[in-house]
Amino acid sequence: MTSFPHKHLLGIEALSAEDLTTILDLGERFGEIATRPIKKVPTLRGKTVVNLFLEASTRTRTSFEIAAKRLSADAVNISGASSSTVKGETLLDTALNIDAMTPDIVVVRHAQAGAAVMLSKHIRASVVNAGDGAHEHPTQALLDCSTIRAHKGKIAGLTVAICGDITHSRVARSDVLALKKLGAHVRFAAPRTLLPAGAEALGAATFDRIEPALEGADVVIMLRIQKERFGAPLFPNTREYSRYFGLNERRLALCKPDAIVMHPGPINRGVELDPAIADGPRAVILDQVSRGVAIRMAVLYLLGGGEAGTAEG
Ligand code: CP
Repeated sequence: MTSFPHKHLLGIEALSAEDLTTILDLGERFGEIATRPIKKVPTLRGKTVVNLFLEASTRTRTSFEIAAKRLSADAVNISGASSSTVKGETLLDTALNIDAMTPDIVVVRHAQAGAAVMLSKHIRASVVNAGDGAHEHPTQALLDCSTIRAHKGKIAGLTVAICGDITHSRVARSDVLALKKLGAHVRFAAPRTLLPAGAEALGAATFDRIEPALEGADVVIMLRIQKERFGAPLFPNTREYSRYFGLNERRLALCKPDAIVMHPGPINRGVELDPAIADGPRAVILDQVSRGVAIRMAVLYLLGGGEAGTAEG
């Protein structure tokens, strides 16, 4: 049995470099299952995974459902619009009622930072944080690391530029924590209004222009502007944002010639990314999505107590 000394996955902060490597290695093994005609192994047969998504999601929710089903777990999906939270039930009451039905793992996405940690203190099931406000999105960071490792052969020593709305990005926070633990050099680039105080304390070099952050980078991670989290406008308009912070061919040429371009999605085409780059040969954005399924299989396997020897079916 692979060693993983955690009941929950609440963030990257609590994980060691060894924990991260365990998940990445296991994710690589599970990735092979997607190439089979029958994409299923019996590893989590009899286990129940509830996906409690109280905030919008395409990639993460679908990916967790596919991951659970590929491991033969029973997957149940609850979304905000179809749950009794719309009738005024609290998140904790909702979770306690779900827990009373004895699931093994609850995957939760919520707009409030700390939601997953709070649930982990009150329910019996293992909790996976699928994104809590601007706090953490640990499986996104893990799939990002998996993608970088696959394309670059390593993570240690690479220079990774994370550009865009750093302030409101749980991905930026989880990414920098994971990448630093695995030995990468991380740069943040954003307009000053989207660069949080204390960003350097996370271990990233910070830039208020994109060009110096891109110089010599091995990997570029572009972030979406999260206007839904703004209280008031933080830059004049998207055209101006794109002019100064959008990734285009001229700016990409500042990176290493073999640099890869990543994005957690959803993309705002023409805002943070020129469509020619989003669809071009340097972009590995859809590979990130594919790897997300394998990484989530690894996480469910480790938390769900997958049977020894059945990781590969
Ligand atoms: N990257 C990501 O979390 O995408 P979704 O919001 O579609 O899940």
